[in-house]
Amino acid sequence: MKEAIVDKGPSVKIVDSPIPEPGPEQVVIKVEVSGSNPKDWKIPEWLSKTLNTGDDIAGTIHAVGSRVYEFKPGDRVASFHEMMTPHGSFAEYAVGWQHTTFHIPQETSFEDAAAIPLAAMTAALGLHERLGFDAPWVTGSKNGETPLLVYGGASAVGAYAIKLAQRAGIHPIIAVAGRGIPFVESLLSKDKGDAVVDYRNGDDAVVSGIRSALNGKKLAHAFDAVSENGSYTNIVKVLESDGQLTLVLPGKEYEGVPETVQKTTTMVGEAHGKDKDFAFVFFRIGETPGVKKA
Ligand SMILES: NC(=O)c1ccc[n+]([C@@H]2O[C@H](COP(=O)([O-])OP(=O)(O)OC[C@H]3O[C@@H](n4cnc5c(N)ncnc54)[C@H](OP(=O)(O)O)[C@@H]3O)[C@@H](O)[C@H]2O)c1
Repeated sequence: MKEAIVDKGPSVKIVDSPIPEPGPEQVVIKVEVSGSNPKDWKIPEWLSKTLNTGDDIAGTIHAVGSRVYEFKPGDRVASFHEMMTPHGSFAEYAVGWQHTTFHIPQETSFEDAAAIPLAAMTAALGLHERLGFDAPWVTGSKNGETPLLVYGGASAVGAYAIKLAQRAGIHPIIAVAGRGIPFVESLLSKDKGDAVVDYRNGDDAVVSGIRSALNGKKLAHAFDAVSENGSYTNIVKVLESDGQLTLVLPGKEYEGVPETVQKTTTMVGEAHGKDKDFAFVFFRIGETPGVKKA
């Protein structure tokens, strides 16, 4: 099969590789569409790793491992490939773990499906595992009227955070965006107090825009899907001193964030580590017929 190997630059080399074999809990997928993410060039550039960095797979099941019972050859699926491991989605065949693979309905195109796995999982982990909001399937949810700030609402991760917050009944959602404002507005519920603030007007305008959108409410939760260019320094001006802030860029110092702020970094790779159970449930709930899609 053909496979694309990404190197510094970024530069891409097409090589011939054998079709991979699945491990006991893995599936091999015939790739129709691969998604892409900022990390696809950052990993070769910053970590000097040369590999097939694609992690968003959409296609049909080609082969399954000995302990896989939910998937069979021919099934339409999407999958979040384990980052930094061989057999990524920039190839004719790619490997996914069964717990991060999910069926896709006929009406969902492979192009749409390929945009889901990594970004939606990042948003879900940030919202529910790091910021502690109840997941949409929790009965008697305590989310209530709890303001949430999503910095970078037009980014892939931020947009999924907004969609999932809507699903979990979190309002008001205050999003910070720029060129993507019309798109972000299409995701918000203005009747529930949601609002969007334009970052192109400068930092002071962002801070005052968030304050006015809060309308006197306290902000205790912020999802920073940008995590650079002043995002978190603006956030801490409006966040409660003991509020929760989750960020997305690992290995940064995040200077200026007070120690009292409960700061976490959301790492989507943990869907293949300590957050395996959450990832499994999230992807299975999403594929279940009758469950409203995000
Ligand atoms: N830690 C993890 O596990 C993890 C996982 C996924 C992604 N990430 C990281 O998260 C970041 C977002 O990834 P992504 O795939 O969602 O990116 P993306 O879709 O490429 O995000 C691009 C968008 O970011 C918005 N943006 C840029 N600067 C902004 C600012 N100062 N304020 C508000 N919005 C701003 C822009 O919105 P407008 O169009 O409105 O200007 C742009 O459309 C990347 O740095 C990525 O590497 C980390």
